[in-house]
Amino acid sequence: MTILQTRNLKKIYGAGENAVHALAGVNLQVEKGEFVAVVGTSGSGKSTLLHMLGGLDRPTNGTVTVDGKDIFSLKDEELTIFRRRKIGFVFQNYNLVPVLNVYENIVLPIQLDGNSPDAAYVESIIETLGLKSKLQNLPNNLSGGQQQRVAIARALAAKPAIILADEPTGNLDSKTSQDVLGLLKITSQKFVQTIVMITHNEEIAQLADRIVRIEDGLIVAR
Ligand SMILES: Nc1ncnc2c1ncn2[C@@H]1O[C@H](COP(=O)(O)OP(=O)(O)O)[C@@H](O)[C@H]1O
Ligand SMILES: [Mg+2]
Repeated sequence: MTILQTRNLKKIYGAGENAVHALAGVNLQVEKGEFVAVVGTSGSGKSTLLHMLGGLDRPTNGTVTVDGKDIFSLKDEELTIFRRRKIGFVFQNYNLVPVLNVYENIVLPIQLDGNSPDAAYVESIIETLGLKSKLQNLPNNLSGGQQQRVAIARALAAKPAIILADEPTGNLDSKTSQDVLGLLKITSQKFVQTIVMITHNEEIAQLADRIVRIEDGLIVAR
């Protein structure tokens, strides 16, 4: 089952002589449960693509379909709700709430959406990511790798259609990066969770099910 599809996705920043064609017509299809790495050099359009996939910014042209929904046919408020329910984000900087403990951070998006967490599912995520003994800790008492594991748990807990990760190991040393990526891969398989991860690190990309290469705003191999 296709969970994510882009058609002729284009993004132009600026206009006239200063126009930057950040995405030049991207066609990408991702199946449910796939763990896809998007690789490319700096400036190739990776972050722009991720922003479009997550509905954080509107394209100049083309469509993005997530879980059967043409997301840019939605009005801004509808898109915000869709994003909260269907898309999980994992960023380089973890983006945890400093005054909430680990457990509170993990279930926060679910509560913000007015729902109560699926306790057994959340428990299973916490165990898989090795966070059981850290649930009462505040984020600043955790290492970078632990904080990123919390961010991954938070993204998974809301059962999104897709998780989008932008350089998730960008702030981690190489050993920790491998550990975190290994866990990301295990969770993708165990919870049949679709993940699209951006990285400029080839070693990290090798752990994904599939590598998509982007150059000058175009997919060059898939
Ligand atoms: N907000 C913006 N305004 C103007 N140009 C931008 C903006 N964001 C990105 N770009 C340009 O678009 C191209 C792709 O950028 P980006 O998607 O950030 O690449 P990557 O994440 O692969 O490094 C680059 O040439 C970058 O300078
Ligand atoms: Mg980037």
